[in-house]
Amino acid sequence: MKLVLRYGLAALLIVTAIILVVPPFAASLIEQWSRSDVESRSVLAFNSALDDITTLLAAHDSRKIVAVFERMSLDEELLAVGFCDQQGVLRYASRQMPKDFTCKQARLGKTPTFSTLRLGRLRLLVSSFPLAASGQNGHVILLHDLALVEQRGAETRLWTVIVLVGVVFLAAAFAVLASVLLARRWVHSLRRAINDVRLGGSGVIDGSEAPPFAREFRHLLRELQLTSLSVDGPDIDWSPATLRQLLTQKLPGAEVIVVSNREPYIHNREADHIVVQTPASGLVAAIEPIMRACGGTWVAHGSGSADREMVDRCDCIRVPPDSPAYVLRRVWVSEEEQNGFYYGLANEGLWPLCHMAFVRPIFRERDWEQYKVVNERYAQAVASEAKRPDPIVLVQDYHFALLPRMLRKKLPNATIVTFWHIPWPNPEIFGICPWKEEIIDGLLGSSVIGFHTQFHCNNFLDTIDRFMQARTDREQSFVTFGSSESYIRPYPISIEWPPAGMKDQKPVADCRAAVRRRLGLTREVKIGIGIERFDYTKGIIDRLRAVDAFLTSHPEWRNRFVFIQVAAPTRTKLAAYSALQAEATELAREINARHGDTSFQPILLMVRHHELNEIFELFRAADLCIVSSLHDGMNLVAKEFVAARDDHEGVLLLSTFAGASRELTEALIVNPYDAHAMVTAIEQALLMPMAEQRERMRLMREIVRQRNVYRWAGQMLLDAADLRKRKRIIQIMSHQETKPSVELVG
Ligand code: F6P
Repeated sequence: MKLVLRYGLAALLIVTAIILVVPPFAASLIEQWSRSDVESRSVLAFNSALDDITTLLAAHDSRKIVAVFERMSLDEELLAVGFCDQQGVLRYASRQMPKDFTCKQARLGKTPTFSTLRLGRLRLLVSSFPLAASGQNGHVILLHDLALVEQRGAETRLWTVIVLVGVVFLAAAFAVLASVLLARRWVHSLRRAINDVRLGGSGVIDGSEAPPFAREFRHLLRELQLTSLSVDGPDIDWSPATLRQLLTQKLPGAEVIVVSNREPYIHNREADHIVVQTPASGLVAAIEPIMRACGGTWVAHGSGSADREMVDRCDCIRVPPDSPAYVLRRVWVSEEEQNGFYYGLANEGLWPLCHMAFVRPIFRERDWEQYKVVNERYAQAVASEAKRPDPIVLVQDYHFALLPRMLRKKLPNATIVTFWHIPWPNPEIFGICPWKEEIIDGLLGSSVIGFHTQFHCNNFLDTIDRFMQARTDREQSFVTFGSSESYIRPYPISIEWPPAGMKDQKPVADCRAAVRRRLGLTREVKIGIGIERFDYTKGIIDRLRAVDAFLTSHPEWRNRFVFIQVAAPTRTKLAAYSALQAEATELAREINARHGDTSFQPILLMVRHHELNEIFELFRAADLCIVSSLHDGMNLVAKEFVAARDDHEGVLLLSTFAGASRELTEALIVNPYDAHAMVTAIEQALLMPMAEQRERMRLMREIVRQRNVYRWAGQMLLDAADLRKRKRIIQIMSHQETKPSVELVG
């Protein structure tokens, strides 16, 4: 708009300047030309009368002289004729000679001269011709009226203005018409280019209709596409806004439905009031910020004691409770079903099967039956929630291995992205599962199957190769099984950035002081921390043993090092979990007895659910954090600890068997099975100079900031968009092929 105004103003100035300069110039040209015409006529008039005048002057015949002058004055532009003698006295003159004219007003020279003279309203050309008649020398004076010349000049000026305005008007009209036509064509071709780039094409514009700035425009389009949507671009700051932008640009109008077993908000009844709880779950920590950013529907198990009281007739409730952004659709599961589906097949079968934590998986036929029933129930719930035939369904975790295939039958056009939050074992281990083919078949109903690491993707592909009649394309990470096609991709999960747990956190020194005060610790005591669900895969026992060994081999640290273990109770119905809890409690008691006394306990075991703000306060109070998982898909606790340390201090000990160790390489990477190495790492952490701590923490924080959970979701959604685009192209092509061709009859 500014540009149009600027150019419009410039054009106006130029046109005004032309109109101001050209007409006066043309008028003066015409005037000059007319005046020289008058001069010529004057000379002609004088010459034709010269003989008569000379004769009559010599004869001093004044009457006839005046008569000749009168005759000459009949010329319409010749006003008067006179004769000035040698003394400069007007001797003879025709009648029209102005009364106030004197010979002094004419230039009387030896040659003919011409000058202009204004007499009252008259503007005159005064021509003076020297003449020598015997005894009467002097000058013949001709006065021409220049009114006609002036009139011609004025007319010329007027007509030039009229012509110029007309020309400018016509040129402007033509230019407007031409630019409207041109702009229409350009807009059309640019639109096509934008669409092409949006669909992943090159944005090339046909040369014949390409606007002159097409190349630059194309370049900009490509650049825009790359910078705004390339998930590997180092300069992309993934945030809720980026994710929303991605959805609008790449998946306009798409409907997003998430399915998981664990719900993000649990309503529990406590005495006469209802409390909301957020569960200790990496999955929830990752998905919740995405749903807050993008909206949609989250289908999950209503597990709280007051969950039914809170939902509407459709079993839905808008959450988060304080600022609703998406719909939580609760699915109800009976106790018997929960025992078989969740505790049984999912957590006694698949969980230990996929984690190499040396807990034997248990497979029961009745659990499998419940697993199928509950998966089918979720498939129905998703189908009933879908408002479009082609939603994007994000299926979460090992609880729903059969769901993708079931959904594919109900919603053939859905884009199903399944993320497996736990490791995938090698084919030998997975082969233990009695329903391995059904589980893999169920998963291959997905459009995309995601794991945390490439290693787990490879294990999955190996398993398919071993047990299924499917074609695996390792280069493209693509599996064709019957009519279904699935991409297998690594998507390293992460946390939101900035992390929600940092909201309202006090400075590190204050957090440390508060925790010390609460736990009765002096300033000299260094704090170690471990926070997770009370799960045998987390290596809690190995960690406590390592602390025990450290205090044994380094007695100088007694009373100077405390290890706080926060463990949120989980799956407590299961024998493996209750056994772990009992073992860890007993071990902590033993260690405290061995290395502590009544005034100081080196292990503080806190078995309860902690809210995010409490967890972050503990992280900020700690000198070191131990994540010693025996096997873990990713482990978000490690990333949360890093995110909590905006002071850049604190040391992370991280298991080499957690997916996070692939990204957080500046942690002290440990093998939790190697007690000696664990002891060495604890000592190294406690003695690590601050400068080194800051250097390591800075690098890790940058990784967590860049590769946050919005990037994780963004990568999956970009792949979903890519798939939808390909599917659309295939549909268009097959539609073209099946079009009936015109047949020639006869
Ligand atoms: O991170 C793996 C995971 O199984 C998640 O899928 C789950 O939300 C979390 O651990 C906690 O488990 P649960 O939901 O059984 O308490």
